[in-house]
Amino acid sequence: MADPVQAQYQAYPYPARDPADERRRLITGSPSHLLEIDHYIYGARRDPAWPFRVLFAGGGTGDGAIMLAQQLADRGQPAEIVHLDLSAASRRVAEARARVRGLANIRFETGSLLDAGTLGRFDYVDCCGVLHHLEDPEAGLRALAGALAPGGGVGIMVYGELGRSGVYETQDLLRRLAPPARPAAERVALARHLVRALPETNLLRRNPLLGDHLSSDAGLFDLLLHARDRAYRVPGVLALLAAAGLRLVSFIEPIRYRPETWTSDPAVRRRLGEMDEPDRMAAAELLSSAMKVHIAYAVAADRREDTQARPTPSAIPVLRDLDPQALARTLKPGVPLTVRFDGQPLALPLPALAGPIVARCDGRRTVADIQNDLRETVDRRLDDRAFQAAFAPTYAALNGINRMLISGYGAERTGIVGI
Ligand SMILES: C[S@@+](CC[C@H](N)C(=O)[O-])C[C@H]1O[C@@H](n2cnc3c(N)ncnc32)[C@H](O)[C@@H]1O
Repeated sequence: MADPVQAQYQAYPYPARDPADERRRLITGSPSHLLEIDHYIYGARRDPAWPFRVLFAGGGTGDGAIMLAQQLADRGQPAEIVHLDLSAASRRVAEARARVRGLANIRFETGSLLDAGTLGRFDYVDCCGVLHHLEDPEAGLRALAGALAPGGGVGIMVYGELGRSGVYETQDLLRRLAPPARPAAERVALARHLVRALPETNLLRRNPLLGDHLSSDAGLFDLLLHARDRAYRVPGVLALLAAAGLRLVSFIEPIRYRPETWTSDPAVRRRLGEMDEPDRMAAAELLSSAMKVHIAYAVAADRREDTQARPTPSAIPVLRDLDPQALARTLKPGVPLTVRFDGQPLALPLPALAGPIVARCDGRRTVADIQNDLRETVDRRLDDRAFQAAFAPTYAALNGINRMLISGYGAERTGIVGI
């Protein structure tokens, strides 16, 4: 096998998955969660009766394709999902997972994403953790953008440079200690010895965000022995999208790309407030210094309209993989919501009505319904201004952490637990 990347994923399908685990859990994540696609690419206006064509380019062992196929099947929405990968071994794992779940909406292809255009037009293309392994990522993304149907969009994930400190230094070291010409098993064994006994000063050891190398051989190979990988900062991601004729709709999670998330200093915040959006996002990454991935939704650059859904009165807000009542119970007036991103705990202040609002996000009520309901049951004096003063910051915080999105067709019917 001439291509070392193809050979690697043939020997070590990644991520390592046991199809039997499909009986007990669904892995959900970003990009390509159905709620996110509908929110960011379709403005919550996608017609669920229209057969949805999706490509998973470099679909690997199937995490993304299985998630989306299951979410569409659960909602009874017609779809054809094409899982495309260079590695037949990875494809077999993904196929076995689909079989265990009884999913009939995925078609499996072995081949290169550079030939995506030969597979027809797609309403949505996922390319998660793949572009940074290509010889020419721009050409890869151009091929995928070229396979989009009008009105479609992409969800990508590429590595973040700053959160991977220690990775490239260790890859360099391992190329010297265990050159690529040596048998793969020998290289894995030596890498395990190496990571067990690193000095305290070592960058990999000092990076608490990395753990893949401690799990499976496939994880170790992917992180420390990869044949070809590069990482991006925000301006590089924006340039990659632009070179493919795409424009960013949103990074995920949006809160990570708001620089105020990472500094409370008023003078710095004032200056950040004067900067344009690309600079603000670049500043957020430099401030955090810990983003190990960039997840982005994008559409054709010449699409002028706002494709991201907005919480208008007729919008239906839904919680992503969370039970509204359970979340509402954890929200106490005056107590900030604590979350952790990129290793950093964040305390998000929420209005006193956040709990009652969240409890009513049942996938049926619109924003206006929630307001009416609160007026009838919680506060009869709740006028538009008072409602917005509570709803807007609740939405901004929960959408920022990618937990509240807008849905076009109501109730979630899954009851599925993500990991
Ligand atoms: C890190 S894995 C990611 C798998 C999957 N997208 C995920 O997020 O779990 C990268 C995958 O991209 C595939 N790949 C690399 N280059 C490719 C290409 N040119 N065309 C299709 N697949 C490719 C590899 O075989 C591998 O399965």
